[in-house]
Amino acid sequence: MATEVFKHGLGEPYKRKEDARFIRGQGNYVDDVMLPGMLYGDIVRSPYAHALIKNVDISEAMKVPGVVAVITGKDLDAAGLAWMPTLSADTEAVLALDRVHFQMQEVAFVVATSRYAAADGVAAVDVDYEPLKVIVDPKKALDPDAPLLRPDKKDKQPTNQIYHWETGDRAGTDAAFAEAEANGVVVKQDMFIPRIHPAPIETCGCVADYHKATGKLTVWLTSQAPHAHRTLFAIVAGLPEHRIRIISPDLGGGFGNKVPIYPGYVCAVVASLTTGKPVKWIEDRSENISSTGFGRDYHIHAEIAADKDGTVQALKVYTLADHGAFDAAAQPTKFPAGLFHICTGSYDFKHAFVEVDAVHTNKAPGGIAYRCSFRVTEASYLIERMMDTLAHDLGKDPAQLRLQNFIQPEAFPYRSALDWTFDSGNYEGALKLAMKNVDYEGLRREQAEKRARGELMGIGISSFTEIVGAGPGKHFDIAGIQMFDSCEIRVHPTGKILARIGVQTQGQGHETTFAQIIAAELGMSPDDVDVEHGDTDTAPYGLGTYASRSTPVAGAATALAARKVRDKAKKIAAYLLEVGEEDLEWEPGRFFVKGAPGKGKTIQELAFAAYTNCPPYLEPGLEAVNYYDPPNLTYPFGSYICVVDIDRGTGQVHIRRFMAVDDCGTIINPMIVEGQIHGGLTQGLAPALYEEITFDDNGNILTGNFQDYLIPTSMETPHWETDKTVTPSPHHPIGAKGVGESATVGAPQAIANAVVDALAHVGVRHIDIPISPWKVWAILNEKGLTAD
Ligand code: CDP
Repeated sequence: MATEVFKHGLGEPYKRKEDARFIRGQGNYVDDVMLPGMLYGDIVRSPYAHALIKNVDISEAMKVPGVVAVITGKDLDAAGLAWMPTLSADTEAVLALDRVHFQMQEVAFVVATSRYAAADGVAAVDVDYEPLKVIVDPKKALDPDAPLLRPDKKDKQPTNQIYHWETGDRAGTDAAFAEAEANGVVVKQDMFIPRIHPAPIETCGCVADYHKATGKLTVWLTSQAPHAHRTLFAIVAGLPEHRIRIISPDLGGGFGNKVPIYPGYVCAVVASLTTGKPVKWIEDRSENISSTGFGRDYHIHAEIAADKDGTVQALKVYTLADHGAFDAAAQPTKFPAGLFHICTGSYDFKHAFVEVDAVHTNKAPGGIAYRCSFRVTEASYLIERMMDTLAHDLGKDPAQLRLQNFIQPEAFPYRSALDWTFDSGNYEGALKLAMKNVDYEGLRREQAEKRARGELMGIGISSFTEIVGAGPGKHFDIAGIQMFDSCEIRVHPTGKILARIGVQTQGQGHETTFAQIIAAELGMSPDDVDVEHGDTDTAPYGLGTYASRSTPVAGAATALAARKVRDKAKKIAAYLLEVGEEDLEWEPGRFFVKGAPGKGKTIQELAFAAYTNCPPYLEPGLEAVNYYDPPNLTYPFGSYICVVDIDRGTGQVHIRRFMAVDDCGTIINPMIVEGQIHGGLTQGLAPALYEEITFDDNGNILTGNFQDYLIPTSMETPHWETDKTVTPSPHHPIGAKGVGESATVGAPQAIANAVVDALAHVGVRHIDIPISPWKVWAILNEKGLTAD
């Protein structure tokens, strides 16, 4: 029995339950929602990056057949809704009032009986703009002659600087650098991690449906955090929270893009409140790329102080962060630069000091955690590039330099120089496995032979450490709400289970893996466990899914809720078997009397008894709920090795091999984990070689569609090789760490390091991503290496 039960427990590649509907084309996305009498919204957007609005004339738009209403900033202002809070305690214009701050900013909302009529209405709205000087380059945002981009904030924020943030030990770091200048080595490097966009297949949108009779507002929303959004809607719109229902149905990807509240959502709600009809608003691709939350945009200067033999001592980082027009970065309140603290990486630095200045520019707001736990990708990229730079300057092998400096397995739990406690790790184990898998020494020999023949081959390593699973609630909150998460389990009389979780899947397979957690805890088949999420009227309160927090937080809540069910089942078993609880033993799926294995009750029998023959001293029924506030974050890690060949004729980078060894602690479903890593690697390849949002000097976005914004397709994606080590988290109930974003965090620098390594022998030390063929060709040309 036990073998059968555990067939689909933890560690089994159980097929994804949700795929039964997805592969039949029967997913239910927001745009699939059709309601009787539904109206459609479309947005008038600014063609200018910075301009005053002299007038908004809606008279012609109101004459367009089918147009029902046009909402302007002034209308919202009259209702006290012109501004909404961002996730970083700034305020963002829902519809611009007297000024636009970035190209594609929302200016008016047209409501019509069809999507086409709404678009015609948008074209007929006449806005009179007076263009203003534009700031595109964040390095110019603090110039004395820079225009003040946020006059609405001038009392609190007299310049374009949003914040200055610093962490670490400045004096200790300075002393270590002074020592290294005298007796060791100091390496310095500037690097830019450009603005990129998560670009989920499904863009953002909603259907808002307000019923005047009941006072209930239902919003089908592309939301990664439905409960938090419900609370924010209640606060922003002043509606009673129990009369707001957010339903986040199937989501076509999110990657952080569906964490913020966007003006279109608020406009659709206002339109439904005004017209009394349901209103659908779905943005198009260009609107998604140009106006919704972007990732990265960090200009970094980093320095390492090390001994002459390469032993690292101190890390110093200065970053200029471009947050765009409004500070809408998505991160916990206490941490304006997210979890950038992880920039000391997998290495045993004694001292570190980090500063970040954030500024406004005339670009779309954002700074979201794009498949990343709040700036962890930026941190990981910088330290892995810096370790290669140190190896380069010392003439050391980058693998050996890493092995020399890794935090050792016995040092965990490890307190980092920036004061974070890494829960567990074995960095050496992961790198050595990756090196063995690719025959690292053999590759280095091959590289030497190729160099001798004039061929360009590079090997890049990334031995990254992540930090995922926010809370704990005492340190982590979003808009004041503590970052816990939850699971509610209802065991029906026949032993079948309905579980509801506070996190929200966007394709990660929670309906499968969370069922596996419960199945493993209760010793039953995941087939008998249905998992629901995304409906605030039914699911327990949770902070949602981003930053790989589902498994570390809601996964833990799920295991603990199942254990509560098991504890109650044990009491029922003791009553039915007429023994004390201490006389019972558990094997997967049943309790039996110690020493008498034949005398027992299955979990299904106990569920039935909970409703039919419950002990008189217990409440009937078998249900449990757990709200889990994690004691610490989890620290997944990995070692990636990338092998590239460079075409000397075109500058094209060809990824010949990519070996990814990941460690996410206890694995729930290896097939899903591998899928997460494959997808994550491709989203790590993207910024390394292809993706970047660029602007001209007037703030016009140059990459506002998929023709200009290059996302890799299957044609550009190499064959990913994967392997694993397993180092459980000591504080997670089942030892699991997050994995969803590991590969996106770890991959870009492995590729960048490989390309730089291919050119290191001719003095190349750094190339900013994305490493386009043109950038490489220009270097080859400068070095006289281009093929004829
Ligand atoms: O928060 P998000 O779901 O994006 O990330 P995650 O918690 O890292 O999980 C991604 C998917 O991988 C989920 O279905 C997890 O349950 C699964 N997973 C797993 O099977 N084993 C792990 N140790 C971690 C995640």
